[in-house]
Amino acid sequence: MSTLKNTIDTIQQELTAKLAAAHTQKDVEDIRIAFMGKKGSITELLGALKDLSIEDKKEFGPLLQQLRQNAEASINQHKNALLEAQAQAALNKQKHFDVTATLPAAVRGHLHPYTHFIQEIQDIFLSMGYEIWDGPEFETDFYNFTALNIPQDHPARDMYDTFWTDKPGHLLRTHTSPVQIRAIEKAVKENKLPIAGIAPGRTYRHEAVDASHDFMFMQCEGLLIDKNVTIANLFATAQTFLKRLFKKDELDIRIRPGFFPFVEPGFEIDMRCVFCKSGCSVCKQSTWIEVFPGGLVHPNVLKAAGVNPDEYSGFAFGFGLTRLAMLKYGIDDIRLLHSGKIKFLEQF
Ligand code: DAH
Repeated sequence: MSTLKNTIDTIQQELTAKLAAAHTQKDVEDIRIAFMGKKGSITELLGALKDLSIEDKKEFGPLLQQLRQNAEASINQHKNALLEAQAQAALNKQKHFDVTATLPAAVRGHLHPYTHFIQEIQDIFLSMGYEIWDGPEFETDFYNFTALNIPQDHPARDMYDTFWTDKPGHLLRTHTSPVQIRAIEKAVKENKLPIAGIAPGRTYRHEAVDASHDFMFMQCEGLLIDKNVTIANLFATAQTFLKRLFKKDELDIRIRPGFFPFVEPGFEIDMRCVFCKSGCSVCKQSTWIEVFPGGLVHPNVLKAAGVNPDEYSGFAFGFGLTRLAMLKYGIDDIRLLHSGKIKFLEQF
């Protein structure tokens, strides 16, 4: 009967070898069926036990039971070990990432050049003690014209190709100057004179669009009301602002007379071309660039807003913010600045 003992030993060795080579749950299940299934080698041996003699039963019965129990235990153990290894591998995958892997390019946005530019202008004026004002783009005839000393039928109204609206007496503001009136009125009401502020914003004109004109563009109004204000204050302000904006330690300005109904006297302030020394296409070979119209606030404007012109005086200016932005960034077509084209905007 030692052959039965050999068979038991062989099965045990076979099982151990097969389990050692089993790497998947399916391998283990196949082994379980081959040894412990209905027709498995261990099951068959156990089935044959009943045909043995009493002595043999006594001798081999316990050995066979032992074999069955060992087989069951080692199969389960191997199954669990595989499950655990699988879970650990998944965990390792999470923990370890490839630091050399290339990232997809990040898409970065940035502020619109207008936003940058306005912030820069505001910073300069804030540092000089100015406030930042805002006003409506949908305006009334009164604020846009009449209060600015441009009454009905005044020829100066022809300077502004106005977008009138369906609402009588209402228009899209043609300049930022109406904010002056609103600011003075508010200061008078709150008893807060003297005042100084700027008002950057959109303006509208009924114009044919080309490289240098658009029906919408931006201006920046400036106003200072105090006692004994002179044109020297206006010139110094213009020069300080332009020097800082164009980052020049020295910058000549030139003053010419200019007419605007809301100032008296009125001026055109030019700055020395920041791009050349002897003439270029930007300054049209003149070495001067016209940038800063302004003047002393007309007594009629002060009166219209409720200020006594014998007590207070002031200066005002209203430069083309769009024009300055185009100059500063070297943009030669206003339509590009207003296009929202990503390819264009990405350059800033
Ligand atoms: N509002 C004027 C325009 O759009 C610009 C201007 C000129 C504004 C002189 C002023 C000023 O405040 O004093 O043409």
